[in-house]
Amino acid sequence: MESRQSDHPAPPLSGPTYTSYLRLDEILTCQTPLSDAHDELLFIVIHQTSELWIKLCLHELEAARCALIDDRTHVAFKMMARVARVQQLLIQSWETLATITPADYTAMRDRLGGSSGFQSVQYRLLEYMMGNKNAAMLAAHQGSPEAQAVLTEALSRTSLYDEALRLLARRGFAIPADRLERDWRQPYVASPEVEAAWRRVYADPETHWDLYELAEKFVDLEYRLQIWRFGHLKTIERIIGFKRGTGGTAGVPYLAKVIDQVFFPELLTVRTKL
Ligand code: HEM
Repeated sequence: MESRQSDHPAPPLSGPTYTSYLRLDEILTCQTPLSDAHDELLFIVIHQTSELWIKLCLHELEAARCALIDDRTHVAFKMMARVARVQQLLIQSWETLATITPADYTAMRDRLGGSSGFQSVQYRLLEYMMGNKNAAMLAAHQGSPEAQAVLTEALSRTSLYDEALRLLARRGFAIPADRLERDWRQPYVASPEVEAAWRRVYADPETHWDLYELAEKFVDLEYRLQIWRFGHLKTIERIIGFKRGTGGTAGVPYLAKVIDQVFFPELLTVRTKL
């Protein structure tokens, strides 16, 4: 009789298995609710998965930043396209979080103490990568020298946008010297010359195709981050109303103020002039 491969093969005797490779024994035991509230597992899982996706975004955006430094725009596009898809997942996660009602959240809130997404190191790294250099945010990590060191290093580096401006300069666009070399810890300030450079790119996409595509990828990145922020705000609003946040801010009014921040200012203002 012909031997048939089993539909249920035994795991390999050596080398990694699904469980060992993914370290599932560790990852799946990292959810430790502090209350008896049924919804706390969802609350933990959604934060943990968001942090994992943000980790991937940072990995991709750092590679994109390096690709821009090396004038390899096509490589950066691949990474930025992936980040856009991951951002969709992060945005979508608010739909799941919104199944937590105010009563559900109240049942666990006291146990959360002063912990808050406000203290997310990776989220702050993402903001720094995107050029929102706010050194004041380091204060949230006073208790952790490791977090402070990682954030200080990221604060002192060029952002993706800084590297895009350097690329524009290498391509012959007139970018002011103080946008090409400066104290990177300081927030970026919009410049009419930079806006004029992007205007030239948008006026003639055929000639500057990869810069045109780069500009649109930046607009996409900012757009999706803002949609994520807005989704956070509206979901939180329906759960906690106008209570203060566990991290100590005013809560929804704080999150509303943050939405006013702009990452790539000239890419928005240039649109008015096209
Ligand atoms: C019921 C669930 C949630 C509530 C009630 C909530 C509430 C808040 C509030 C009120 C703030 C302002 C800071 C504070 O005073 O605490 C905040 C900030 C933040 N939250 Fe949430 N949040 C929730 C879920 C999430 C999830 C799932 C994530 C995903 C990682 C997240 C990430 C963040 C981040 C990154 C900040 C800082 C935003 C900034 O400073 O711009 N939050 N959250």
